Amino acid sequence: MSIKVAIIGVSGYTGLELVKLILTHPVFEISYLATSKGDTTIETLHPSLESVIHKSVDRVDVDKIAKCSDLVFLALPHKTAMSVAKEFISKNIKVVDLSADYRLELDTYESAYCPHEDIDNLKYSAYGLIEYFRKEIKGAKVTASPGCYPTATLLGLLPFVPYLKEGSAIFIDAKSGVSGAGKKLTEVNSFVNINENIFAYNPLKHRHAPEIKEKISKIYNRDFDINFVPHLIPITRGELVSVYATLKDDVEPLDILNNRYKDESFIRIREKPVNVKDVAGTHFCDIFATKSGNSIFISSAIDNLLRGASSQALASANIMSNLDEALGLPTIAYVP
Ligand SMILES: NC(=O)c1ccc[n+]([C@@H]2O[C@H](COP(=O)([O-])OP(=O)(O)OC[C@H]3O[C@@H](n4cnc5c(N)ncnc54)[C@H](OP(=O)(O)O)[C@@H]3O)[C@@H](O)[C@H]2O)c1
Repeated sequence: MSIKVAIIGVSGYTGLELVKLILTHPVFEISYLATSKGDTTIETLHPSLESVIHKSVDRVDVDKIAKCSDLVFLALPHKTAMSVAKEFISKNIKVVDLSADYRLELDTYESAYCPHEDIDNLKYSAYGLIEYFRKEIKGAKVTASPGCYPTATLLGLLPFVPYLKEGSAIFIDAKSGVSGAGKKLTEVNSFVNINENIFAYNPLKHRHAPEIKEKISKIYNRDFDINFVPHLIPITRGELVSVYATLKDDVEPLDILNNRYKDESFIRIREKPVNVKDVAGTHFCDIFATKSGNSIFISSAIDNLLRGASSQALASANIMSNLDEALGLPTIAYVP
């Protein structure tokens, strides 16, 4: 049996990760690869794939893609993604979208991003944070893969939400490798600016803060002030999130984590603070937590391009296709 999948946005970083994941997937088979311009091949765009795969990359042609595909991955910028997604949804093709377009409630989306152009389909979308929304993903027409920072933050923080002090603030200090910003070169992500450097960007104003706040409120019906500060660090991939919050209950942090995730194969609870190297190249999220008095520190690490994007999208596609959720998910880290 094979299930045909198309990937749109294959010249980008998350698109490339999807191509690599699908190449080794036992059931999914690539049906169509696309970029905005097309007229090339995947090994021309990514010479690392020479002698691995030979396949044309074409412009986006919804009718052609729909005829040869059961499911489509969109590795596109927000706004572009929804303009394409709605056409596939109307043709009953399942969509896994890596952008923000179907992640949020309408008002949250429009205040953080732009006017929504596919409001009707928001009700058919699921938030692709696997460990919390499996049932919704299974029946969804479109799964919205979470942002990379929200993935690492929510997986660490959510188990503690019931034990946090009412009305207290949550501080999230996040650090990301440069691939988190996509392939486009800018002055900010140039080598000279990134190398041997570290700096905050969009402090307290990043678009992932409303996503984190909304999902906490959706799952637990509790509101917290989210103080989110991301930083860029001179690594290619990997994300480390440090959360500081205030407990109301006397709980043992590692017990809470071990209990919540005891049946989850891709969450590893660590006995000491986590690092990005152990997860880079994998679908794992590593989490550690400790407390002093009523202060809690939670540390989580993911590969932003995999658990924060493409492997999480693949896990959703597995679920939407009634396959074993773990099929094709990478487990071997790029160590040393
Ligand atoms: N990077 C991460 O760590 C990460 C993590 C989670 C989520 N995401 C989200 O995933 C999406 C893709 O991110 P990325 O980092 O892979 O970005 P990227 O490296 O900048 O790649 C974007 C891709 O979109 C394509 N594209 C743009 N406009 C298009 C159009 N009109 N039609 C067809 N293709 C078009 C580009 O193709 P051309 O070369 O033809 O322009 C390129 O292949 C974004 O929404 C991003 O927010 C990224």
